[in-house]
Amino acid sequence: MPSEPPPSPDSNPPASTDPIIPAITTQNPEPVATVSVPQGEGQSAARSAHENPGACTLAIDIGGTGIKMIVLDADAKPINERARTLTPHPATAEAVLEVIRTMVQAQPAFDRVAVGFPGIVKRGVTINAPNLGNDYWRDFPLQERVAAITGKPARAMNDADLQGYGVISGKGVELALTLGTGVGAGLYVDGRLVPNLELGHQPWKKDQTYEERLSDAQLNELGKKHWSRRVLEMIEQLEPIFNYDTLYLGGGNAEHIKGELPANVRIFTNVEGMAGGVRIWTTAPT
Ligand code: BGC
Repeated sequence: MPSEPPPSPDSNPPASTDPIIPAITTQNPEPVATVSVPQGEGQSAARSAHENPGACTLAIDIGGTGIKMIVLDADAKPINERARTLTPHPATAEAVLEVIRTMVQAQPAFDRVAVGFPGIVKRGVTINAPNLGNDYWRDFPLQERVAAITGKPARAMNDADLQGYGVISGKGVELALTLGTGVGAGLYVDGRLVPNLELGHQPWKKDQTYEERLSDAQLNELGKKHWSRRVLEMIEQLEPIFNYDTLYLGGGNAEHIKGELPANVRIFTNVEGMAGGVRIWTTAPT
């Protein structure tokens, strides 16, 4: 269980009024964006990163086990191999930033940065990080610090929220779940995100949360077959609650799911999810 209490509803404004939450929708193609820009460059750098149709995006995924990075072109196609480095322990903010600083040096040129983070993120500031250490990440200005390291405008948001943007269609109710070190969730209504849905920490069965029953550690302990049965049970549990049109399952462990999935469930890869890094900048309809 996370040591953080869930966010209070009034500290989490509705997505429609949040300036950093883009929507994949034709009704709202140009949300007002608040982004961190490197010191001295001002808002024009951020604006041109948002408007530049040929811009390349450095997508960074900070995970409980690995830190991943890839550069994507304007169509969200990878232009290099995804790089991965083990997450440092302890995973303090400075240690993680140090890994990012080193990894960035080996990346091809990019114009803007998108960071997925394994915890609650509000306006680019991290609130907690259950699998990295909540105390290390309380109120940490991640977006601003990554912009300073890379010298490019940056946006940071919850990892599952970002990855879902990589795969959703922008139509109807879509839920993206990531199965990795933790269990992440991104919920979208006609392409508009309901941010920071911490479904993984919802108590489920036997005094355990979804995350506790479906984590990496459980997969290793139970084996793929038994763990997959739990995934199918989770789907049975969530379908009649969320009544989503499509459920997307991603994260490092989705590929291990055995058995038949309902017709409205789709598996996505990590690289597909990282395409969300481009979409959170462009908000283009998919
Ligand atoms: C965190 C989520 C995150 C998920 C996947 C959970 O422990 O609470 O915010 O999305 O792990 O990284």
